[in-house]
Amino acid sequence: MAAKILVTGGTGYIGSHTVVELQQSGYDVVVVDDLSNSSIDVLDNIEKISGIKPAFEQLNLADAVKTDEFFSKNTDIAAIIHFAASKAVGESVQIPLHYYRNNLVSLMNILDCQLKYNIPNIVFSSSCTVYGQPEVLPVTEKTPRKDAESPYGNTKRVNEDILNDSIKAYPQLKGIALRYFNPIGAHPTALIGELPLGVPQNLVPFITQTAAGLRDELKVFGDDYDTVDGSAVRDYINVVDLAKAHVVAIARLLENKNKAGYEIFNLGTGNGYSVLEIVKGFEKATGVKLNYQIVERRAGDIEKIWADTTYANEELGWKAEKGLEETLRSAWNWEKRVRGIQ
Ligand code: WQD
Repeated sequence: MAAKILVTGGTGYIGSHTVVELQQSGYDVVVVDDLSNSSIDVLDNIEKISGIKPAFEQLNLADAVKTDEFFSKNTDIAAIIHFAASKAVGESVQIPLHYYRNNLVSLMNILDCQLKYNIPNIVFSSSCTVYGQPEVLPVTEKTPRKDAESPYGNTKRVNEDILNDSIKAYPQLKGIALRYFNPIGAHPTALIGELPLGVPQNLVPFITQTAAGLRDELKVFGDDYDTVDGSAVRDYINVVDLAKAHVVAIARLLENKNKAGYEIFNLGTGNGYSVLEIVKGFEKATGVKLNYQIVERRAGDIEKIWADTTYANEELGWKAEKGLEETLRSAWNWEKRVRGIQ
């Protein structure tokens, strides 16, 4: 009998790619999502890729009663991957109470149910945003966390502490926090990908929408940073590589290979690329000339960050495989399919 994995936020960008990888690794997947920032149609495209439509329930995990009701009917869940969260950095500054309530209460409701229904394993979707602007690069898992630049980033930091303290208090729990650097790209089938609602905040979806003619030009937020070409540097990781790391983390917990109740792993490539290098890389990978203009820095942005991937590579036996051009091409293929462009 295949182990049953709950993926919260499983119709979202990273969640949907992780559902596919879990299914293709033989797991039985159930998805919950409140559909506030994704479409239920994603389930059909997951089925087109894997041949299996995951079980689905629309659920607001911040609702304790409904969450308990769900878990009471799914006590055979072997492990949880918790993606579901509000995640727009700028929006979180405007409506912090929504972000704290949704992101923190959801995790606490899940942990309550894990204790009540004896579901020990959880993988938590965290973010390199907890490091702020590191003093020393590259970033390791021992790099001190810094005050978050946004309420969104702070919910990631606080949720890590909620998870860590809960595992200390209730040793029957075990969890892994995965700190993502910058996830980009789409599934090679172009059937699932990143579909931001409204104006994209993140770089690559803004690039692909500009290339598709939905946006007049890309604004490059600053070229006066202390970097190779003045534009800010990030560690961009292919979303399928990232999804595969979640399958490894789940197996680590199910096979009791974890070396501590609470573990943290950075998920990056170890390479930093500037915004202008991403623009040039996109043009080279796709042959599409990009309209862009250098403008002022964006408030809250850090200058540069990239991961030291040694610990994840050695301890998880996982490494990001896909290169930048292949990844940018996959993002463009997805955008073209969504917009009906040949
Ligand atoms: C990358 C670089 C921008 C848009 C955030 C969150 C992080 C995670 C990923 C959720 C920066 C520049 C961007 C544009 C630009 N989110 N940029 N023009 O800010 O590194 O990380 O998204 O989990 O937690 O903090 O990602 O893609 O917004 O920006 O010049 O139109 O691209 O200034 O240097 P970021 P991003």
